[in-house]
Amino acid sequence: MSATVRPMTHDDVVAASQAQVSAFDDLDRRRHETPMPTPTDAIWERIRLRHHHLIDTDPGGSWVAEIDGNVIGCALALKRETYWGLSLLVVDPTVQSSGAGRKLLDASLTYGEGCDRWIILSSSDERAIRLYATSGFELYPQVYGTGKPDPKALPALRNRVRDGSVDDTALADDVDRIVRGAPRGPDHVRMATDMPLFIADDVDGKGYAYIRQDGEVYCLGATNEATATALLWRCFAYAHEADRPVGVIDMNAEQQWAISMAFQARLKVQPAGPVFWRGTTPPKAFLPSGAYL
Ligand SMILES: CC(C)(COP(=O)(O)OP(=O)(O)OC[C@H]1O[C@@H](n2cnc3c(N)ncnc32)[C@H](O)[C@@H]1OP(=O)(O)O)[C@@H](O)C(=O)NCCC(=O)NCCS
Repeated sequence: MSATVRPMTHDDVVAASQAQVSAFDDLDRRRHETPMPTPTDAIWERIRLRHHHLIDTDPGGSWVAEIDGNVIGCALALKRETYWGLSLLVVDPTVQSSGAGRKLLDASLTYGEGCDRWIILSSSDERAIRLYATSGFELYPQVYGTGKPDPKALPALRNRVRDGSVDDTALADDVDRIVRGAPRGPDHVRMATDMPLFIADDVDGKGYAYIRQDGEVYCLGATNEATATALLWRCFAYAHEADRPVGVIDMNAEQQWAISMAFQARLKVQPAGPVFWRGTTPPKAFLPSGAYL
């Protein structure tokens, strides 16, 4: 039986989160990568929080697919002014390749009507790549870097970067207007509440960077590459101080400054899923967030 799609509600979050975890676990196994450990309660909470947040901010971009009344997948898209981003697209592995993903993507794209900048961070799943490439998006290959930063590579940081807080979200929105053409609004509040934030704000430039407690650089935006570089070094230093690996997940050819830093810090750099853009090319002083793009 083929899937049908309908708008997602908060009641769907448990089933949609389960589909998300199963889909990415299956993808890791198909790619012969070490699957993520079984989610702890805290990780389930984090996964569900993202669904609830986007259902609240973007009910028109939140969709589920059902078969026989059971939720088997979801799409979460966000719209900030005229910027559209796909935060999540998953279908349960037991029913993949039967058209549900295409239906979910098409529904989420209708939500972007009138937008002029569109972004999708793709996994390496061949179906995902086909879906986006055949929906009017341009493909940009990416790499990701992980590992403990080499302390010998960490530069002495000029006092350009300070710790930030939710009080800095207006500044971060100003940066986003410049670098990606639209503010993040409620997403900055969400991220600044959930994880450490670093801020640069001086005559040489403005910018922000979020890093998750586990060391993943969550997203970064700056008015120029020098400021972006200072912020990313601060993230590397944060991971080093915490004795944790750092992860820089999405870097494409426009972000040579970040790729070069990953090599300088002796991170392991590997191919990642591509990023897709429509209506514009990738910003330079920018590392998108998987959840809030
Ligand atoms: C990516 C995903 C959401 C797609 O959903 P799906 O229901 O499996 O995909 P569909 O059946 O709609 O197929 C999508 C396209 O891939 C094609 N396709 C299906 N199986 C394929 C395969 N094994 N290899 C290549 N292409 C395939 C389909 O023909 C379709 O293209 P078309 O509409 O032009 O004919 C789903 O497979 C998934 O959850 N994957 C793991 C998680 C993931 O990577 N999510 C994407 C995050 S960006």
